[in-house]
Amino acid sequence: MPLGLQAQAAFVPADNPLTPEKIALGKQLFWDKRWSRNGTIACVSCHDPAHGWADARTVSLRFDGTPTPRHSPTLVNRLFSDTQQWAGTRTSLEDQAMKASDQTPELLVKNLGPIEGYRVQFQKVFGTGVTPEGVAKAMAAYERTILSGNSPYDRFRAGDEKALSPAARRGLTLFEGKARCVTCHAGFNFTDETYHNIGVGMNREKPDLGRFTVTKRDEHKGAFKTPTLRDVAKRPPFMHDGSMTSLAQVIAFYNEGGVKNEWLSGDVKPLGLNATEMADLVVFLESLTGEVAREVTSPPEFPK
Ligand code: HEC
Ligand code: HEC
Repeated sequence: MPLGLQAQAAFVPADNPLTPEKIALGKQLFWDKRWSRNGTIACVSCHDPAHGWADARTVSLRFDGTPTPRHSPTLVNRLFSDTQQWAGTRTSLEDQAMKASDQTPELLVKNLGPIEGYRVQFQKVFGTGVTPEGVAKAMAAYERTILSGNSPYDRFRAGDEKALSPAARRGLTLFEGKARCVTCHAGFNFTDETYHNIGVGMNREKPDLGRFTVTKRDEHKGAFKTPTLRDVAKRPPFMHDGSMTSLAQVIAFYNEGGVKNEWLSGDVKPLGLNATEMADLVVFLESLTGEVAREVTSPPEFPK
């Protein structure tokens, strides 16, 4: 486990234990364009390892060129999260992978089934041929190894006083104090894993109602999952709609008290930060950039 992450917080379903062979298979599937409907995209197309496992585009484009309704979120530290997506639509990484492929289970088997290298690995890992369930399990297993820790912040917490600059340390004090960010970006993974309305996009004519679309509960209107802030500086643009292009813009948004709307969280209020304080918060967020192991981020060899 990289420095700063907590193994006891991991979610690994009992029926999908992590094994090296399964993780290696999942990695190939995650990068392989052959599973997609017309062979043009893979998971990495919208979750780019070189861009903090998110998408540099405001919204992503599907294999047929149509835009996705929301911005692609990062995949780092999904190990610590059970429900997935901005609105918590998916119950697990397995569920997400089953439905992420933008295509039917039958087509998936048709596209991957004939590849000898996959058939051999599926036999070894699951004792079956290529199945949609196996594809989803292997991909989820690989995703659980995309871990970002050992950031300057973690080294500071571990006792290395010099790991954070004075500005970053001031930013940390604000993050936990006056700016109240820890109310929601809580704990070692900087998320409470729950849903809040901070007002993003609520000034649109037809706002995305987020968590409400899943629960149909009024108080969930415009609420989205608190994202982890680890590696955040690596993956602009930000928010479920990709509407903010810089961290300075994010801080200015919070400083104003978000966007007023009927369901705005009581924890989002004008903060009264001055220019130096806002800059310090940005420097602190930059100190959350960590390291993902090279064997996880390097492209795999594809089976034939
Ligand atoms: C066409 C672009 C695209 C492709 C390809 C794609 N994703 Fe996504 N992914 C998205 C978008 C957009 C979301 C956010 C959806 C939402 O929350 O409504 C998302 C969300 C997710 C999430 C939820 C993360 C979180 O923080 O809650 C996971 C996990 C995920 N994708 C895994 C995958 C896997 C595995 C694949 C390959 C099978 C894949 N994605 C392929 C665009 C894509
Ligand atoms: C009331 C809970 C809450 C508070 C307080 C809060 N956040 Fe957030 N934060 C969220 C939610 C929810 C989102 C996602 C909102 C969306 O996409 O519509 C988010 C998104 C973000 C993002 C974008 C991350 C990404 O991957 O797109 C950043 C950066 C961020 N917050 C930083 C902060 C900072 C810094 C503070 C303190 C000034 C703060 N937040 C206070 C709940 C909160």
